[in-house]
Amino acid sequence: MELRERRIGIEALAVQLPRSYLDLGVLARANGTDPAKYYFGLGGRRMAIPSADEDSVVLAVRAAGVLLADRAADVSSIGMVLVGTESGVDAAKPIASYVHRMAGLPSDCRVLDVQHACYGGTGALRLAAAWVLGGARPGRKALVIATDVARYDVGSPGEPTQGAAAVAMLVGEEPRVLELLPYPEAVHAAEVMDFWRPTYRSTALADGHYSMQCYLDALESCWRRFAGATGLGAGAFDYLLYHTPFPKMALKAHRRLCELSPDGPPAGGADADWERRVLPTLWANMEVGNAYSASLFVSLAGLLEHSEIDAAGARLGLFSYGSGSCAEFLAGRVGPDASAWRNRTGLRDALAGRRELTYEAYLRSRRSYEEQGRDGSFRAAAGGAGPAFCGTWNHQRIYRDAAWRSGTGWTSGEERTAEEASPFRAGHASRGAQAGS
Ligand code: HMG
Repeated sequence: MELRERRIGIEALAVQLPRSYLDLGVLARANGTDPAKYYFGLGGRRMAIPSADEDSVVLAVRAAGVLLADRAADVSSIGMVLVGTESGVDAAKPIASYVHRMAGLPSDCRVLDVQHACYGGTGALRLAAAWVLGGARPGRKALVIATDVARYDVGSPGEPTQGAAAVAMLVGEEPRVLELLPYPEAVHAAEVMDFWRPTYRSTALADGHYSMQCYLDALESCWRRFAGATGLGAGAFDYLLYHTPFPKMALKAHRRLCELSPDGPPAGGADADWERRVLPTLWANMEVGNAYSASLFVSLAGLLEHSEIDAAGARLGLFSYGSGSCAEFLAGRVGPDASAWRNRTGLRDALAGRRELTYEAYLRSRRSYEEQGRDGSFRAAAGGAGPAFCGTWNHQRIYRDAAWRSGTGWTSGEERTAEEASPFRAGHASRGAQAGS
């Protein structure tokens, strides 16, 4: 098969996580469940829990910040920002807009969000790659960010599969992280009601066992298309990365893929093969939980950051599934200097800097996030530095970022009442007046 001459893919990648996590054993005991169900039945260890001042915008901005601070990314070269997310904070205004301003990107930039459940990040990556190759803005690159917070109701079956993360990716023609290989597209769409989040809810709803069936049906359809069009079998890949709502799902997926592979079952069987070619991509997912649209890219970062694997030149098969549903199987090749990304994606720093929550602190953090979303809840973010969600004022979400810090003289850790701290009083009044009056 003739492959395209121009290369395209991910040039640089950065991961950000919430500052806190909950151990699944702690959750299991609080729920009166055998911890073995969460640890081994689902395959998770811990899940990232955002604090009240961390939302999908803050995670996205922080990930963009890490990416752009790296010498691999030049701000002035970015001509498009696509955010893949299902954790939008506004039905009209995209997260990409906040990222664009807070990251100080050029104004001649196309800026929008892409939504299709967990497929949003992959969809955004594909659209960005096509835009770069289309050549409408020669030399420009795209900033793609997958950012999500997975929340289910307390005590629901989905609760142990929560998580959150943002992965920022620079997309261009020097794909040092991952080259997207130009095989025919292998996508699958089917309208199903397996998982959804109505706009009036902050938590998702799922028909859990049906959703696993939908995931596997979509995998089968994509894989048949990919294998049929390329003549390749599962053996063509050094590693296989699957969308990971919980790690056991990746095992179920790999079993299905191996059953259908034209090159027959792998030596030693699918489970042993999973340990060799899938498990090395899952260690970070086990720490983070389901990061929805970012999940597949957390696996990619995990492979790059694996302490014992140099993935240089490795051929990857990647399966992305978004409930609702849209899915894709795609192929990529890791860049030749993969080891340069070890300790550079931000993943290890983010993991090392986390603090463990008690079950009570987890419940408190969920409650305070809900309160922070109510109008009039604004208060300066307590502690820390960098972007933070400060609450809602005059129906507008207020974020602390570098510009506001220098403009208002706020110092990190400073607490004020909503009236004192509102950026809309005095000189800012005209910006906020209409919405709340
Ligand atoms: P559940 O029904 O409570 O769990 O929730 P279960 O009874 O099916 O048990 C889970 C596994 O634990 C089973 O293993 C049990 O045998 C085992 P399996 O048979 O499947 O291999 N188990 C134990 N193992 C050891 N010791 C024990 C023990 N007890 C049981 N004592 C469910 C599971 C996934 C349904 C739930 O967590 C849920 O609803 N999650 C949310 C939906 C979801 O994650 N779906 C995945 C596919 S859809 C998808 O990936 C898209 C998504 O990311 C959203 C998007 O696209 O945006 C979700």
